[in-house]
Amino acid sequence: TTATVTVDRAEVVAPVHRRLFGSFVEHLGRCVYDGLYEPAHPTADTDGFRQDVISLVKELGTTTIRYPGGNFVSGYRWEDGVGPRDERPRRRDLAWHSLETNEVGLDEFARWTALTGSEIMYAVNLGTRGVLEALDVLEYANGAAGTSLADRRIANGGTEPYGIRMWCLGNEMDGPWQVGHMNAEDYGKLASRTAKAMKIADPGLELVACGSSGSGMPTFGDWERTVLEHTYDDVDFVSCHAYYQESGGDLGSFLASSLDMEYFISTVVATADHVKYKLRRDKTMMLSFDEWNIWYLEEHQAREAELAAADTDGSREWPYAPRLLEDVYSVADAVVLGNLLITLLAHSDRVTSASLAQLVNVIAPIMTEPGGPAWRQTTFFPFSVTSRLAAGVVLRPRIDVDTYPTAKHGDAPLVDAVATFDEEAGSAAVFLVNRSITDPVTVTVDLGSLDLSSITEALVLHDADPYAKNTLADPERVGLSPIDASVSNGVVTVTLPPVSWSAVAVR
Ligand code: AHR
Repeated sequence: TTATVTVDRAEVVAPVHRRLFGSFVEHLGRCVYDGLYEPAHPTADTDGFRQDVISLVKELGTTTIRYPGGNFVSGYRWEDGVGPRDERPRRRDLAWHSLETNEVGLDEFARWTALTGSEIMYAVNLGTRGVLEALDVLEYANGAAGTSLADRRIANGGTEPYGIRMWCLGNEMDGPWQVGHMNAEDYGKLASRTAKAMKIADPGLELVACGSSGSGMPTFGDWERTVLEHTYDDVDFVSCHAYYQESGGDLGSFLASSLDMEYFISTVVATADHVKYKLRRDKTMMLSFDEWNIWYLEEHQAREAELAAADTDGSREWPYAPRLLEDVYSVADAVVLGNLLITLLAHSDRVTSASLAQLVNVIAPIMTEPGGPAWRQTTFFPFSVTSRLAAGVVLRPRIDVDTYPTAKHGDAPLVDAVATFDEEAGSAAVFLVNRSITDPVTVTVDLGSLDLSSITEALVLHDADPYAKNTLADPERVGLSPIDASVSNGVVTVTLPPVSWSAVAVR
């Protein structure tokens, strides 16, 4: 099989937004506790942060980090997590049936993000709280000395304001599982009131209204319309969340998951633009794809249902840092993740912020063992390479290739690709996936219009076993390998093995 990818320097989608390489840290399972924070670990610093994790986070190349949830945030009181540690309350976290000790809160997280070089994207609780608490946490985080909440932060060691620009107005308020779940009308009104108040405090904030938790939600589309009719003037982004998994052994459909992400994005763009024209506004709404990943959610839901059914007398334990959502990712999972990143880049005219959910241990590219090592999951690789190589502007290529039938997404092209071009640096990068389960595909990438002549790097993520994984016992089973790629007269030729993700850098 062959494919032709034609990259035209005139087909600019948008600048590469660094915020597309965001991630997400939720108080969930072992993401924070026994993940990025483990005071007894040999690499822990004086704050209890594992330095081996910090160095992997830097290598991963994440930018913005969403915090502190997720579903967790809808029952969270931010003030529980600040001040002297021994006075912080222990509480039940209803979202994940866990014990929250509050050892880590906003001040610790701000110190951790300074060490990782990331930008905080903070989610306020609109499930069980409202406008006042959102204003309070804003003042605590960003206020200048001289008011009681800002002075409290200073007393707690946060001398300089944290300067958090991006704020999520709640989390997945469309989901019946959300503590404090609301209908679109009620949420839209609350989000608008909260946003207006936050922007009086600081007009420079960038605010994100909750969109849908998935394209399969019964309210998908209508939710966005109603919420945006209430909030259009007050917010800068509407959120999208999507998780994908292989089900029923249908690898072909799974490998084409990015087609659902494309459908998701184009539906939300159309809906947001409908509201824009209906309200006769000039402003264009951007999308924050602030949860996306592979997640074996069906298996998680089945386990949860079993535990809940067995708890006939309400005696189920509320454990501290339980092993929750610790999916172990395969090569196929990593190929899909690489493809989802291609899709986000290809739509970066409207998707200007995104967060891989999540970062450590919980559906994560980085895994840790208490007292032991930290290692890279398969999904680490396409993310880190794309974050490192994508620069300049995104160019949407024309792709000529055969399709294959899928049960879930109709006919899917065998190859997907996107390019970035940094004119000043005189370099480009092309990211490609081969979705075929059986056949290699020889791709010619015509970069003629870019006037570049040599390959500086060509990497592939592939294994004879698409289900190969990295585990504690074998943490380096899967990694990147060099791939043969040649360039002549501005045309790159590369043969992509089946079920693979590749990156080719040219200068
Ligand atoms: O990322 C895991 C969970 O997925 C988040 O807490 C929630 O927002 C979503 O349903």
